[in-house]
Amino acid sequence: MTLANTLKQMRKQGQAIGQFNFSAYEQLNGIVLAANKLNTPVILGTSEREAKFLDFKIAVGLKSIFQKRYNVPIFIHLDHGRSLAHIKEALDAGYDSIHFDGSGLSFEKNIALTKKIVDIAHKKHVFVEGELGYLRGKSGFFPKQKTDIAKQDLTRPEQVEEFTKKTKVDSLAIAIGNIHGIYAKAPLLDFERLEEIRDISNVFLVLHGGSGISAKNLRTAIRLGVQKININTEIRILWKEKIMKSVKNTKEIKPYLILPEAIKAIQDRVEKYIKIFNNQK
Ligand code: G3H
Ligand code: ZN
Repeated sequence: MTLANTLKQMRKQGQAIGQFNFSAYEQLNGIVLAANKLNTPVILGTSEREAKFLDFKIAVGLKSIFQKRYNVPIFIHLDHGRSLAHIKEALDAGYDSIHFDGSGLSFEKNIALTKKIVDIAHKKHVFVEGELGYLRGKSGFFPKQKTDIAKQDLTRPEQVEEFTKKTKVDSLAIAIGNIHGIYAKAPLLDFERLEEIRDISNVFLVLHGGSGISAKNLRTAIRLGVQKININTEIRILWKEKIMKSVKNTKEIKPYLILPEAIKAIQDRVEKYIKIFNNQK
């Protein structure tokens, strides 16, 4: 089952796939246990730095081991690939999917580089996500900070057709008010813009910055055409909070007695999101 086929099938059912990022075994374990319990395909995301920390080949190896252990489709995706070297490393390691984030480039340069990467990746049957529009923030917890989203950062519907036709990307990450990380105020999503983008292009649409967006807004985004949603910050917060809680006030040193609480909390949160993405109650 390829990612493209999985997304097509999920589109027919009005569902979106979740991408959950990991760089620690407890996160990976919690994510896969949730997907397996709900019998739902899942994408394991690794940013360039997460992939480097894990080692690209080991990240793919871990995915393969979990794939053999469970029946549910599991895909591994390079998230926000910005350098050709990292993208090539992911392709060589056997990633199923890569995201080229050319959002910091001019429109023309973004098209040219994305196209180049699509050409290389498609030869290896690897799925490619492009990006149009500029996403602010980073995957962290900043409850006292405000984020100002400038209108010029948002994806311009009039650029979408040219970008997707020229680059031949399989999916497109869009900026409709979403931000990376959790800030003082939850982001306001521009659903009219989303509908316009959906009506222009047939590629799968991706919503980054899923952490902190309400279930109601996520459901609306999926109803209006979003097919993949990325979550990182919430998994990071849970991992740290639960491990800190488990090690505090205990003399215990056995990892297998300390870590299950973090795994369970991550599994529960991922299950919560998968149910929303599956359009379940
Ligand atoms: O690419 C990763 C995601 O967009 C994560 O966003 O940290 O706000 O959940 P998040
Ligand atoms: Zn992102």
